[in-house]
Amino acid sequence: MSELDAAWAALHAAGERARVRRIASLFDAEPGRLARLTLEAAGLTLDLSKQPWSLADVADMLDLARTAGVEAARGRLLAGEIVNRSEGRPAQHAALRAATGAGFKAAGVEVSGEVDATRVAIRRFADDVRSGAIKGAAGKPFRAILHIGIGGSDLGPRLIWEALRPLEPQIELRFAANVDPAELAQAIAGLDPAETLVVVVSKTFTTLETLANAEAARGWLRAALGASADAHLAAVSAAPDRAQAFGVAPDRVFAFWDWVGGRYSLWSAVGLSCATALGFEVFERLLAGARAMDAHFAETPLERNAPVLLALAHVFNRNGLNRPMRAVVPYAQRLRLFAPFLQQLEMESNGKRVDAHGRPVKRGTAASVFGDAGTNGQHAFFQLLHQGTDIVPVDFVAIREGTEGDPAMQRKLLANAVAQAEALLVGRSEAEVRAELEAKGLAKAEIDELAPQRTFPGDRPSSFIVLDRLDPERLGALIALYEHKTFVEGVLWGINSFDQWGVELGKSLAARVLGELEGGAAGTHDPSTEALIAKLKA
Ligand code: F6P
Repeated sequence: MSELDAAWAALHAAGERARVRRIASLFDAEPGRLARLTLEAAGLTLDLSKQPWSLADVADMLDLARTAGVEAARGRLLAGEIVNRSEGRPAQHAALRAATGAGFKAAGVEVSGEVDATRVAIRRFADDVRSGAIKGAAGKPFRAILHIGIGGSDLGPRLIWEALRPLEPQIELRFAANVDPAELAQAIAGLDPAETLVVVVSKTFTTLETLANAEAARGWLRAALGASADAHLAAVSAAPDRAQAFGVAPDRVFAFWDWVGGRYSLWSAVGLSCATALGFEVFERLLAGARAMDAHFAETPLERNAPVLLALAHVFNRNGLNRPMRAVVPYAQRLRLFAPFLQQLEMESNGKRVDAHGRPVKRGTAASVFGDAGTNGQHAFFQLLHQGTDIVPVDFVAIREGTEGDPAMQRKLLANAVAQAEALLVGRSEAEVRAELEAKGLAKAEIDELAPQRTFPGDRPSSFIVLDRLDPERLGALIALYEHKTFVEGVLWGINSFDQWGVELGKSLAARVLGELEGGAAGTHDPSTEALIAKLKA
């Protein structure tokens, strides 16, 4: 048995032990548990003590991480080596948030110079739009930005805007991602084209949804402003020629590079709309928060390394205990888009069934991630979390000081976050429920029927992350924490976290089906697909 297989075998054995032990019992058995499993990183506090692992299991997991080569892989990632084998590219998102002049390399080539120059260009553009030095064709300052993009060109900026937007912004930011025209219609509703800047964001500038939305938005601008409408366009792309061919003026095309993965790109010019609508200083603070997490990830020994331990906790559940789902519940309305962001980050990165060399993986990879803001989620899917047949580990995120509003409401929010994690851990025994029902004078037959329904098994694991405030720095650190955690998981599973071949087949079949819906010759399909095409064509 190889050293790596032995380390995985130790994890599976640890999982078997965890099945027959209650998490809560570990607090008595392990006096140092809370301190050992509480981490500080870049302004975030992580409590991993409600996870099902014992401290001995954590030590085994750290052995697994070392044996799988996490330290060397981290070095290769941050050195800009080609970690995305199938596309022959580095994944150098850390360079995008590095300090000016940091000297980062991608595939051996120094890239910090062009990153810094692009940051200067973003700042100039953002400042000029905000000051009114850059105006619309009719001489009016821009009051709104329509950000068009999808996937990695949408989810990060949308999350940032929702999390940090002022209540009454100087510049309103709207988003259109879906090719469903309903989204664009809603995004432009109430906007004045003469005061709206359209920022088209696409790494490839070939994405069907984005090009369709960009054309429709340009049509909307032209209908109001005529030929001068193109002065309202800006673009962000790793294929700047295509953006220019679309009609965007060369000095309004902001570059990023093929060594930036789409879902890791919000730190680049992909954040242009946010930098403009929030102000460049806010964007810079976001980068600084992510940079602090990069430094923590790069420099902290694995034992205290927050992305590494969060990854190990998730892998303990995924592989040690065979749990294929995870919920993420930020107790912050402003973070309600964190779950959709993580869905792409984790499931597009690590939803793979073969390793980076094309060999079948030996065990389950990415968990399905779902979630919503607390407390809303409590009134939707928490029933299943507490009493469902499957155990779904939860990541809680709580913000100590609210951004706005009544502190008393903020305390209610926090009380719910803490209480839910406690309820999942300790549950409520049938004996306790029975005693309560007896005290109320219920008959035995009724108690027999009701008590099991009102029992909470407990022993359901969670992580708890606390941010003192939802400021740009801590938001940047939170996102970078999950980026690196996703990378570490990919290393453990031996997969390439930076490609996404699984999205290609549906795209090409959609092109064929579209031809048929538009009256082209019928193709060969399964009977169900043929029937659907016939129905939707009619
Ligand atoms: O969903 C597939 C994908 O390729 C993502 O990885 C990417 O973020 C998204 O499409 C958008 O791609 P682009 O930025 O090239 O338009």
